[in-house]
Amino acid sequence: EQDRAPRLSVIGTGYLGATHAACMSELGFEVLGVDVDPEKIARLSRGEVPFHEPGLPELLRTHVESGRLRFTTDVAEAARWADVHFVGVGTPQKVGESGADLRYVDAALASLAAAIDRDALIVGKSTVPVGTARRLAAMVRRVRAEAGLPGEVELAWNPEFLREGFAVKDTLTPDRLVIGTDGTRAEPVLRRVYARQLAADTPWISTDLETAELVKVAANAFLATKISFINAFSEITEAVGGDIGTLADAIGHDARIGRRFLNAGVGFGGGCLPKDIRALQARVSELGLDRTMRFLAEVDDINLRRRDRVVDLAVQVLSAARDAGRGEAAAYGGKTTGSGVEVLRGARIAVLGVTFKPDSDDVRDSPALDVANRLYTAGADVRVHDPEGNANAAARFPRLDYVDSLEEAVEGAELTLLLTEWQAFREMDPAAVGALVDARLLIDGRNVLDVAAWAEHGWTVVGLGHRFDP
Ligand code: UGA
Repeated sequence: EQDRAPRLSVIGTGYLGATHAACMSELGFEVLGVDVDPEKIARLSRGEVPFHEPGLPELLRTHVESGRLRFTTDVAEAARWADVHFVGVGTPQKVGESGADLRYVDAALASLAAAIDRDALIVGKSTVPVGTARRLAAMVRRVRAEAGLPGEVELAWNPEFLREGFAVKDTLTPDRLVIGTDGTRAEPVLRRVYARQLAADTPWISTDLETAELVKVAANAFLATKISFINAFSEITEAVGGDIGTLADAIGHDARIGRRFLNAGVGFGGGCLPKDIRALQARVSELGLDRTMRFLAEVDDINLRRRDRVVDLAVQVLSAARDAGRGEAAAYGGKTTGSGVEVLRGARIAVLGVTFKPDSDDVRDSPALDVANRLYTAGADVRVHDPEGNANAAARFPRLDYVDSLEEAVEGAELTLLLTEWQAFREMDPAAVGALVDARLLIDGRNVLDVAAWAEHGWTVVGLGHRFDP
């Protein structure tokens, strides 16, 4: 009995938890996924993934069918059965505030603590403000002491760094494993759970609870800063000319800087980077360190200004085209004033992409969806197509016109916006698309199209971070 492989539970079966559960069964463990949402549990039990993630449906189905992976809404069942409880519930931004909402983590830990009647390990994976793990550890001890429950329960923190779209790969072959502990029992058990990663020489960082919590938010804050850094330079090249992609390539050759995450465009979104930089600022302010993360307010501002830029550029491009059509000398290029927005009224605009990034159906804090909605609000006739994101976007902004194909989206368009760099959009045929639109005008919000190749087919393609000269 002592030497059998640990049984694992995963509390919270959203993006992180469902992926972790399926990947842990792939590593050979028996896994029980737990969630308070009965519908989610019913779908997962049938082998269905409730969101879009390449490779995950196959993995889930295999292990659900083999019986190695099961799901339940009963946390007490997990408490009795599992040796290790991973907690991957959400920590969203509080409504109307910048801090993280910890009610789900608190509730998950409280219900676990009150139900475990044996030796066990609780391993937090959710992204939390520094200090949360130590507070939760004390709470677990208190709840258990008050209830007089048998068994030793230790709490560890093991942050998750997976990216949407690469969730399975990032979980099975992570860049590093970070394990924060405040005791001696967690580490050997987790070394056993992650034996395959250790055998593959994955860096193993064994540390305290606070460092483990901070590594996660530091990584996301750095990534967000990198994106806003290049996007700030976009504001310069948009004003004076120059090529933002070449600039990124050139500085990226310096290994200390690195080229990745220096793609200029409409900015970052999603359920992690935006809320994590806000939660970090809120947390350090609570700690009395008001100035420490103030630069992240700039990172956030630069990021949000990219959306203004796309809307301004749409106004400029349409105005210039209409003036040219009337035979007037076009004289735009400066910042568009409020009245310029008139040109958007009734304009047929195709929006390609509404998810926050490709290979995901996630529209949380999506720059693309925000831009589409702003154009609609300004009176434009916006037609949206996203390979996976239409349904989630429609749930948020039902009044936009969502269509099932690229062709329907661009048909009759006066202006086309590429806002999420799905492969299908990168590979568009300028001649075929050109035959459908009303005007061959495109704003490339992700700098993925070959401007010269498109120009050969009569297109004007304006990339973000490039000067627009009408
Ligand atoms: C991010 C981190 O990359 C993961 O390591 C982390 O685990 C995750 O958050 C999380 O905290 O759960 P994710 O939100 O899936 O992952 O997406 P990213 O690939 O980081 O992209 C974030 C946003 O930045 C996207 O909107 C993307 O379009 C944008 N981006 C990315 C750029 O605008 N430019 C770039 O060069 C790179």
